Amino acid sequence: MSVRAFAPGRVNVIGEHTDHTGGLALPMAVQLGTTITGERAGEVVRLRSADEPGEAVVPIDVVDPSAAEPGWARYVAGVVAELRPVVGLTGEVSTTLPVGAGLSSSAALEVAVALALGADAEPVALARLCRRAEQRASGVPCGIMDQLASVAGVDGSLLVMDCGAETVTPVPLPEEVAVVAVHSGQSRSLAASAYAERRAQCAAAEAEVGPLRDATVAEVGAIVDPVLRRRARHVVTENARVGAFVAALQSGDFASAGEVLVAGHRSLADDFEVSTPVLDELVDRLLATPGVHGARLTGGGFGGAVVALVAPGASVEGWWLRPSAGARLLEG
Ligand code: GLA
Repeated sequence: MSVRAFAPGRVNVIGEHTDHTGGLALPMAVQLGTTITGERAGEVVRLRSADEPGEAVVPIDVVDPSAAEPGWARYVAGVVAELRPVVGLTGEVSTTLPVGAGLSSSAALEVAVALALGADAEPVALARLCRRAEQRASGVPCGIMDQLASVAGVDGSLLVMDCGAETVTPVPLPEEVAVVAVHSGQSRSLAASAYAERRAQCAAAEAEVGPLRDATVAEVGAIVDPVLRRRARHVVTENARVGAFVAALQSGDFASAGEVLVAGHRSLADDFEVSTPVLDELVDRLLATPGVHGARLTGGGFGGAVVALVAPGASVEGWWLRPSAGARLLEG
């Protein structure tokens, strides 16, 4: 049986490093994504990539996805291990997403593989499955944002994502603004260990003050350890920024929306410490560009891309991203 599946990448506009504490995020699925074309048959998933070297050859009863080679095959193997398909697939992967830029090329690959293999789950269940695949493949204890954005994207809308309730509420992006991602040139080695360390620090803060989702700035201000205090303050203020950004956007106050993004960047840099001098410099350069309302690092940090809210005519080079529909089976 012939199949063709497409899954988009995502850009997160605000609400960073909140998903793993059940907080709020505001990503959107983008027009760039990953397509898999193939034939469902046999007992092996065998995929060639138009963009990456090597071939992924994964038996449908694969046991350890993290051992698959080449590196991109681990994400394929992660999905196979979680989905346990009864039939394999032979085909081709191609992507219009930049790899390693923080636009979730790995989530797009996972979701496309799952759909191509016949996953027939509700959106949240599909996103959860692909999140587990990512965790097993990469060893990064990520949240659900990337996979859920790819699955649940809505044409023309940002997605208010409640990562605790696992719900998505679309908010239209006004036509007077555009979202641009600009690569820092620093390839994002989302240092698995640094991500896991941040996540553990959030958990340690929660052990002291309860769920960060419900905590106030005053409560986290009482955390004894200064590092945990700053990590927790980032999460609490970042959750609040999601609502503040949406309110500013909906009232057409793009300058205030931009200020929220900049405050988010400063918080990621100073309190959560996942920025780099290259990212800081890129944000500053963008903020000095006419027509840029605001900018911040997007994704896990430690490199990758900066996202900017801009006027449609702004002279900013990068990926001009359109909020787009979620993953779908195009054939099969
Ligand atoms: C990575 C993870 C997401 C999320 C972001 C930070 O993209 O995969 O789950 O935690 O970092 O917001």
